Parts: sequence; structure tokens; C-alpha cells
Amino acid sequence: MLEVPTVPSTSLTPQPPAEAVAPLMRGLDVLRRLTDADGTLALADLARATGLARSTVDRICATLAHLGFVRLDGRDAALAPPLMTVANACLDALRVPGLLGPLADRLADELDESVSLAVPDGDDIRFVHQVLRRRALSISFRVGDSLPGGGCAPGLVFRESLPLAVDDQLVEPGLVAVAVPVRGPDGSVVCALSVVSHTSRHAAGELAGAVRGPLEACVRKMEAELNYQAPAAIEQRGPGQSPATGDPTPATIQSLARGLRVLTAFDAAHPTLTLTEIAEGTGLARATARRALITYEHLGHVTHQDRTYRPTPRILALGCAPLSRTTLPRIAAPHLAALSKRLGESVGLSVADGDTSVRCTARVTPRRVMSVDIGVGSRLPVRDTAAGRLLRDGGERAVADGPEAGLRSVAVPVRDRAGHVVSALDVTAHQGRGDDDTWAEALRDTAALIAADLHVTSRFVSVPVH
Ligand code: PHB
Repeated sequence: MLEVPTVPSTSLTPQPPAEAVAPLMRGLDVLRRLTDADGTLALADLARATGLARSTVDRICATLAHLGFVRLDGRDAALAPPLMTVANACLDALRVPGLLGPLADRLADELDESVSLAVPDGDDIRFVHQVLRRRALSISFRVGDSLPGGGCAPGLVFRESLPLAVDDQLVEPGLVAVAVPVRGPDGSVVCALSVVSHTSRHAAGELAGAVRGPLEACVRKMEAELNYQAPAAIEQRGPGQSPATGDPTPATIQSLARGLRVLTAFDAAHPTLTLTEIAEGTGLARATARRALITYEHLGHVTHQDRTYRPTPRILALGCAPLSRTTLPRIAAPHLAALSKRLGESVGLSVADGDTSVRCTARVTPRRVMSVDIGVGSRLPVRDTAAGRLLRDGGERAVADGPEAGLRSVAVPVRDRAGHVVSALDVTAHQGRGDDDTWAEALRDTAALIAADLHVTSRFVSVPVH
């Protein structure tokens, strides 16, 4: 169950097999290019980068937009949070982040340093868990990012079978790291655990000594956890239980939409699946699922052994890193823009800032002669704002006359995966311009959309609320 799937070397790109699905390959290429561009590209640049006709790029992006995986914004295509369902299925099936992530989090707390888990991906390594310390000098690798195996500590652990590898500024000046292997019950290396620091805190040679005790204790706990976990029970999944969406409208490319569904068939309870199980789980015809699997195998996104298929970490090259490098205000931005347009008023997000104020973390205000002027970062008193009252008192809705004379605000909560209120969504406008109930209903709709995007994004990565 905890085998790290071996992915063929990236340097060899043989001709695709005859049965590979060309539209799926093109769609995956578009997702990879968007990922490499950190999430956003003009459609014209996508056409240039992929060598595809502009009309083909438009159809691919329309299909991806229909699935919610991409947002079309004027001339740009941008990766959208629902694409994280693909990365989440992969991370879930790999088991490592779910089983070992909490232990890595504790090590980071204990050492007050960044800690990561990485797995091999062909000649590269790919991060599947990251615990970042917020510092002025912060290291910005995120879940889904990859590094060349020869140029980082985890890569040296995998390549040279080292019991401990040191990265003395191999990746970047100032960055130092030590990595150690974490082994599964059969002795094979499942992942590398790294502690990452900066030369201002530790010289490379000294870092290993400074963290060795807690690092080794953590590896022992991780290996005990891997030992304790019996192979996941493979649940039978009947037809029609696929987590993915239904068939798109005819204007979109069906073979791309269907092919992508295959990747979401895997999860922690189904880390490996047979063709029959994939066809049943996704509701796809067996021949369709088979050709999609041939395509994915060619690209290194799945491997197969005997009759079972498993996803590889290379699936994380399809959008994961840019989407995990985000914040709640960024996730909310397109939803706030739509809400502001719908209401014609100023809308925003706030978080608590001490006991008596709230701080605005995002704001969209329509242009007009007299408009509400609350800037991102501004602090307002709790008692004069709906957002402040909501964050202080809880509940499903709050109203306030304020923050200035003549203004009225209404706020609703935005909740995280655990149901905790992480932010307040408000509309603030001149009194008498709208009624509280209409505003509250629109706010609730938008809060639900923001929360859905937050929940899918934060399954395996932490998303800062500001
Ligand atoms: C990281 O987790 O960011 C990291 C780990 C090991 C390295 C470099 C970076 O060698």
C-alpha cells in the first residue's frame, strides 16, 4: 500500500501509443503549461506554448472551465480551486501526507523550522507535505512543487540511499536542509523527511547536529505509523458513485472531460484500482477508461502492476503547486467581484484583530461618485461593523449601522473544513440602498462558494486566512 510508485524518467518521451487519447493529452498539456506559469496564462500564450491552434486551446479551456478546473477571465485562463480534487485524489491515494503529515507538523513546531515530506518522481523529487514557518525570509516550495533529484537533500536520500543528506545551498543561496529516509515495513524508502532552514539560523554543517534528536525521533514515530497501518481495505465502489461531475455539454471535448474523471477515482480507500473498478467507479465505458489509463501511463501519471493501477506523484504537476500557494483573500477574489456586481455595492472579507477591531483582508467596491472607502488592511471597530459583531458574537448573520454615520453593513460567516469561522463576509453601503434580507441571502450564496473553494484547497495544504 505504501509503495512509492516509480515513475519513468522525464528525459525520455517516446511516441505516444496508438491508443492514447489525443484530446486528453492536449488538455493535460494545457494544465501543465498553466501550472508551470504559476497558474495563469493568456489564451494566446497558451496556444504559442502548446503549439496548438487558438481554436483548439479555446475549446480545451472551455471544457476545463465547464468542469470548474479553469476560470476564463477576459483573455486569460487561470487554474481554479476545484482542480485540487485531482491533486487531492492523488495525495489521498499516496497515503503519505495523510498518515505522516501530522507528525511532520509536530516536528516543525518542536524545532520552529520548516519541515517537508517528499517522494521520488522520475529523476525529480516532489513535495507532498510542507509546513512553513512564516518568516521575513521564507522558503516557498509548496505541495506539488518538484526539484531535480540531484540538487536537493531529499533527492540525495533517494539516489544515493543515504541515511542523511545535507543541502548546503544547492537550491538557493542561504537555504540549507537536511533530509532523512522514512522506510515502510518492507524496508523500502517511502519518502524523505526534511528540515529546512536558513544560513542566518544554522550553517549547513551544524543543522544536522542541531535537529538530529527530534528528527530521528520523528522518523521512528513515522515508521511505527507506517508499520501499524494495515493495507487499506479496498472498498467496493458501485457504479455512479464517482466523485466527479457528469458529462459536459456537447460544445466541450468529451474525451478530455471523461479522461480527467479517471484521476479522481483513486483515494485513500482505493489507492490502487483495476480497470473494471475504475470503469465502475467513474461510470465510464471500459474501453474509454482503458484508453485514458494508457494515456496517463504514457505520461507517467499512473503506473500499473499486474492488473492494478495506481496514481503517481506526477499528477501533482497538474495544477497543485500554484493552487496550494494561495490565501483566503485570493480564493475569494473572483467571488467578491461577482457579488459586488450582483449587488452593486462594496463587499469584503475581514478577520478579527484583537478584541476591539477587525481588519479588512479583501474588498471589492464598484466605482461611483460616492462610494464606501475601506481599504485592504484598514482596521475598524468591532462594535460599528457587522463583520466585527459577527466575529465577536458568532451566529449566522450580523448587522450594524456603521462603520460611519449613514452606512449600513450586513455580514455572514465563512467557515473552514472544521466548521470554524475564519472570516466574515460583508456588504457595506449607504443606508436605505438595500434591505438586510436580500443582502444576507446574496452574502450566504457567496460565502458558500468561497467555503467550497477553501475546503477543496485546504484538504492537504494550509491556506492562510489573510
Ligand atoms: C523544502 O522542503 O523546501 C526543501 C527540502 C529539502 C531541500 C530543499 C528544500 O534540499
